[in-house]
Amino acid sequence: MFEPRTCGKEKTLFNSDIIDEISKVAEIASAFMTSESNNAIVLSGCGTSGRLAFMTARSFNQVVPGQKFSYTIAGGDKALFTSQEAPEDDRNAGVQDLIRVTGGKEKVLFIGISVGLSAPYVAGQLDYCMDKLDKYTPVLVGFNPVNLARNIPIHGWEKTFRDVATRLEKMTSQGKTFLINPVVGGEAITGSSRMKGGSVTIVILQTIFTMALSASVTSSNDSMTSSEMCKAMLETYQKTCQLFYASASSALSSMITNASESFKQESSIYNVGSDGSAVMGIIDATECPPTYGATLDDIRGFILGGYDEFNNAEGDIRCMGEHFKIGSKDLAELLKSRGHKYKDTIIVLIMASSVNVFVEISGLFERSEKELALPTYLTDVFVISMDLSEVKSSVASLLTPSGIKRHIDSLIEICSKWIFNAISTGAHICIGKVLHNYMVDLKVSNRKLFHRSIGIIQRFCPTLSETEATDYLLQSIYGTDDVELVKNNSIQQHIQQATPQDRVVPTAIVMGSKRCLYAHACQLLSNHHVIREALSSIVTS
Ligand code: F6P
Repeated sequence: MFEPRTCGKEKTLFNSDIIDEISKVAEIASAFMTSESNNAIVLSGCGTSGRLAFMTARSFNQVVPGQKFSYTIAGGDKALFTSQEAPEDDRNAGVQDLIRVTGGKEKVLFIGISVGLSAPYVAGQLDYCMDKLDKYTPVLVGFNPVNLARNIPIHGWEKTFRDVATRLEKMTSQGKTFLINPVVGGEAITGSSRMKGGSVTIVILQTIFTMALSASVTSSNDSMTSSEMCKAMLETYQKTCQLFYASASSALSSMITNASESFKQESSIYNVGSDGSAVMGIIDATECPPTYGATLDDIRGFILGGYDEFNNAEGDIRCMGEHFKIGSKDLAELLKSRGHKYKDTIIVLIMASSVNVFVEISGLFERSEKELALPTYLTDVFVISMDLSEVKSSVASLLTPSGIKRHIDSLIEICSKWIFNAISTGAHICIGKVLHNYMVDLKVSNRKLFHRSIGIIQRFCPTLSETEATDYLLQSIYGTDDVELVKNNSIQQHIQQATPQDRVVPTAIVMGSKRCLYAHACQLLSNHHVIREALSSIVTS
C-alpha cells in the first residue's frame, strides 16, 4: 500500500507526480471550502468507493461550514447498507444523480472514485463533467494505470471506462482535469478492492480535505510547499499502519478465531461503534454478501445513536426493511429476539478519550435474559494500544487545530477499517470461502463480476477457453446442460438470473473441471459444507 515511489514503470502513492496532483486538488478544494459562493464538492463511487465518498462527505460537513460536501452512490442510500451491484452498470443513473445533487450550484469540484477504473456509473459522470468544464472540475481517483482501465462495453453507450479515462488523462495534461491513480499493488484476496483500494481511497480523500482545511497554515509557512506538506501527511498514514499492525496482530488473530467460531455455529458477527468507526463497521458488513456470498445476516453493522448520527442524505430509511436498522438499540432488540441458541460475536470498538490510546473490545458471547444492555455482553477484551503522539507532533505545525483533530480522527477511522476488514476477511477465510486467494463464492451480480467469474473459472480450469468457461458459467446460472437455450440472452438477463443464487461460480468450476453435467456438479458440491474443501477435493481429484 505504501510502497516506494515506483513499481516497475508505474507511479505509487509517494511518487512526486502523484503527490503534486493530490496537492493541486487540495488547493482547489480549499478555494471551494472557503468561498461564499454557491458551490459544491461532490464525491462519488459504487460499492465501497461510494460508501467512502459518503463517509468523507459526512466527516467534512462536520468541520467545514455550509454543508459544502455531498455524495452520490450507485443505487442510492440503500447501497450504504446492502450491496446494490446492478446500478454500478448504469452510467445514465450516474449522470442523473450528479445533476440532482449539483442543480443550482455555480461551480462543482467532482471526485469520481473507481478503484479498478471500471465503474460505468462513475464513467458517465466524469464524461458529463468533461463536457461542462465551465461548471465542473473533474477528478478521477483509482488505482490502475489508464491503459489497464476496463475496456468492456458499457450497456447502451459507445464508450468504455478506458475511453473516458484516456480522455481525462489527455485533459489532465492540459491542466483542465485531475487524475490521481497511483498503483498500490494487488489485493490479498484477488479483486477485493474494499481492502487496500478502499484504504488508499480514504488516505487520498482525507489528505486532500485535511490539507484544504489547513491551507491558511501552508500559505503562512514559507519553509514548506504544499507538496512537502502532502508527503508529510501521507507519511503519518504509513507510520500509523506500521504501528497498527505491530500492536494489533495478536488481538486480531484472536478476534478472527472468535468470529469464525460464530460462523461455524451458524451465528453472526455484529460490528458496533460510534461516529466514523461505526460507519466503517457498517461499510465492512455491507461488502460481505457480494464478496463472499454471505447472507445479509452473517455480518451487520450498527452505530450508537442510529440515523441521527449516521447523517446520510436520505435520512432514516428503516422502513426499507430489517437490514436498514442500524442503531445500537436495534441491535439490542435483535439480540433479544434471537434467543439463546446463537453464539454471536459482537465487536464493539471503543475509543479512549486520549488520542494516544486506541482501545478495541470484542467478544464471543453467550446470552442470557439479564444481558440485554450491550456492555454486559462483553466477555473478551482486547486492548490495542498505540502511541500516536509522534504522528501527531509530526503534523502539529502543518495543520490548524481543527485540521489536527480531523486528521487524528481519520487515523482512528482507518485503524477501525483495518480491524473490521481483518475480522470479516479472516472469518470468511476460516470457513473456506477463499481458495488460493480467490473469492470463489462471489455473487454474479453485475457486468464486472460476470467477467471476473469467467476469469476465476479459467483460473481453476486452465484447459478451458474463455468461451468454454462462459458456457459453463451460463449453464450454472440457468441450471441447464444445454447452453444453446440461454446463450443468446443478454448479459443483463444473465446477471438478473444469477444474482439471487448461491454457489454459481463453484458449480461452474466443478462442471468445467470434471466436464460433467449440472446435476452431477451440484451433487458433488452438496457432499461438502465448505466450498474451499469441496473445490480442492473435487477439482484436484
Ligand atoms: O461490483 C462490486 C465491487 O467490486 C465492490 O466490491 C466494489 O466496492 C465496487 O464494485 C466498486 O468498485 P470500483 O471502486 O473499482 O469501481
